[in-house]
Amino acid sequence: MPTHETSHAPSHTSRCAAAIPLNPLRALFPLVARDGMLSFANGHPSPDACDHVGLAHAVDCAKDDEMSWRYGPSIGDPDLRPQLAMLSDVEPDAIVVTSGSQQGIDIAVRSALNPDDCVAIPSACYPAVLSVLAANGQRPIAIAEDEHGVLPEALHDTISSSAVRALYLTPTFGNPTGRVMPRARRIALLEICAQHDVLVIEDDPYCDLWFETPPHDTFVALARVVNRNADVIALRSASKSVAPGLRVGWMVVPDRLRGAVAAIKQASDLQTSGLAQRTVFHYLSSGQFDAWLPQVRALYQERQTVMIDGLHSAGFAPTPVDGGMFSWVKLPSGVNPETLFSNAVKQNVLFAPGISFASDPTNQSLRHHIRLCFAAQGCAKIKQGCKRLGQALAESSEAQNHD
Ligand SMILES: Cc1ncc(COP(=O)(O)O)c(C=O)c1O
Repeated sequence: MPTHETSHAPSHTSRCAAAIPLNPLRALFPLVARDGMLSFANGHPSPDACDHVGLAHAVDCAKDDEMSWRYGPSIGDPDLRPQLAMLSDVEPDAIVVTSGSQQGIDIAVRSALNPDDCVAIPSACYPAVLSVLAANGQRPIAIAEDEHGVLPEALHDTISSSAVRALYLTPTFGNPTGRVMPRARRIALLEICAQHDVLVIEDDPYCDLWFETPPHDTFVALARVVNRNADVIALRSASKSVAPGLRVGWMVVPDRLRGAVAAIKQASDLQTSGLAQRTVFHYLSSGQFDAWLPQVRALYQERQTVMIDGLHSAGFAPTPVDGGMFSWVKLPSGVNPETLFSNAVKQNVLFAPGISFASDPTNQSLRHHIRLCFAAQGCAKIKQGCKRLGQALAESSEAQNHD
């Protein structure tokens, strides 16, 4: 089972590059590519969720649009930024267009933090954030969580004992748990961060994918109404709701950080692809996005239902989430996670082991969870995959009984 390791780098590699941990999810790619493998491991949106017709039309408009082919402002296309501002319910001046929210994380960190600064991150977190921190020389500190997310007391204790400069979170349909942090918890964390001058980095690529009701107030919105001293950078993305290959995301940046963010974006890549930005602009202008998104939500909701049923029949006890792409499932007691993983691979089904998301690799408690993406496969494959998982679980429980 792949684990956190640091890549072995030749001597001419920078210290930061050498410190980047191998991404445990990317290490699963060879298994994902195996013939007959049914994978719930990757967090990739479904090809069926892509509005091919609407996007083809937008690409047609973009290809005939001279703005696609020019250099443009580093902070983003002047027509696209107001559209993104409406989606985030902020003023257009706050928007910086990025190449996906992954670049948003990088730009946020490089604009606001120095090497050796500490960043508080949830104990279960999106692994690629660790790569960004390592690449820029910051130190991650894992903060304990309960079912509502990061614990305010734990954050407070950590801030009191280390030089924490930022808190990184995915509070809405987060990766890996799929849960939504309740409003009261958000406010408690925001108050602590405001009090200690800690920047909140709210990574929010899944917020559009709600099933029945739109999610709670974002940290950005709460900062406006609850505590104006709080600094929040929010990161959004078109990857999960439009198409990941476009590589278009955006940042909502507080006033005092706008100059730094614009300078780092410019230093980084001058601008996000003009063609991609104009495609998103034409897609949003056409009204197709608003018409298509409810279908994506319905598709993923149905797939979650099928997966939850299948997992119950297979002997797991999953809890449904209210949106996003992930099911975070605790293993039945007595099941060895590594045995289950190798039995699942033998059955040609793949999940992401919980330990892959440990922000502190010495924390073994996440071993007893697995993350399953219900978005990427169709219902028939989800049923089949759950049966295979049931078989793997039965074999793992038997193997355990004979130990
Ligand atoms: C929490 C989180 N942040 C950022 C990203 C990167 O998304 P993007 O494609 O917008 O760069 C992902 C992708 O899976 C993610 O899960």
